[in-house]
Amino acid sequence: MNEVNKSEFWDNLYKINSVGWDLKTPTPAFIDLLKSEYFADKSKMLITGCGYGYDAIAAAKNNFNVTAVDFSETAIQFAQSLAKKENVKINFIVEDFFSLNDNHLNSYEIIFDYVTYCAIDPSRRKEYADKIYQLLKPHGVFAIILFPIEKRIGGPPFAVDVEEAANLFSEKLELVISTSEINSIKPRKGRELLQIYKKTNGKKS
Ligand SMILES: C[S@@+](CC[C@H](N)C(=O)[O-])C[C@H]1O[C@@H](n2cnc3c(N)ncnc32)[C@H](O)[C@@H]1O
Repeated sequence: MNEVNKSEFWDNLYKINSVGWDLKTPTPAFIDLLKSEYFADKSKMLITGCGYGYDAIAAAKNNFNVTAVDFSETAIQFAQSLAKKENVKINFIVEDFFSLNDNHLNSYEIIFDYVTYCAIDPSRRKEYADKIYQLLKPHGVFAIILFPIEKRIGGPPFAVDVEEAANLFSEKLELVISTSEINSIKPRKGRELLQIYKKTNGKKS
C-alpha cells in the first residue's frame, strides 16, 4: 500500500515540520474565489486535506459555513487553535476523506481542494472524483487548483495531468472554467491551474 494512504505518513511530516507545501497564509487565488461569482449565494463549504487550516479560516471570516477535513491530527490541532485565536467557528474533522460517512452525502454547496489531489495515491484519483460528486449538493461547485501540472517523477506531490483530471471530474460534473490566470505565489506561477466544476441538477446534462 502506498504510504500516502496512511494518516501516520502525513502526521509524521507535520510532527517533524517537513511541510514544504505550507504557505503559512491562505491561498491568494482562494481569497479571490471567496468573493467571486462562482461562490455567490453559496455557504456550506468543505475543504479537503485542509492542513493547518488557513484557507478554512479565511472562508469562515468571509461568512462561509466551513467544514474542513484532514486525517492528520497534528495539523487539525494546529488549525483548531488558530481558528480559536481568530475567533471563527469551523467544523474540523480528523478523518480519512475517502471514509466520510453518509451524513456528508449531497451536503456541500462548495468543495475546495488545494494541493490535496496531488497528495493522494494517484491510483485513487477516480475514487476521489466520485467522492467529490457524492458529497456535493445538486448545483454545488467544486473548485480545485491543480498543482503541480508539470511532469515530475514520484511524489508527493504527484504530477497532475490536467487532461486526466478534467476527464475524471467531467465524468459526472460540468467543467465551468479552467484557467491559469490566477493569483499564484511566485514559485508556483505557471505550475498551477484553477478549475471549477458544477454538479448540474444531480447529474450531468
Ligand atoms: C500537501 S498537504 C496540503 C495541505 C493544505 N491543503 C495546504 O495547502 O497547505 C496534503 C494534505 O492532505 C491531507 N490528506 C492526504 N490524504 C488524505 C486523506 N485521504 N484524507 C484526509 N486528508 C488527507 C494530508 O494530511 C495533508 O494535510
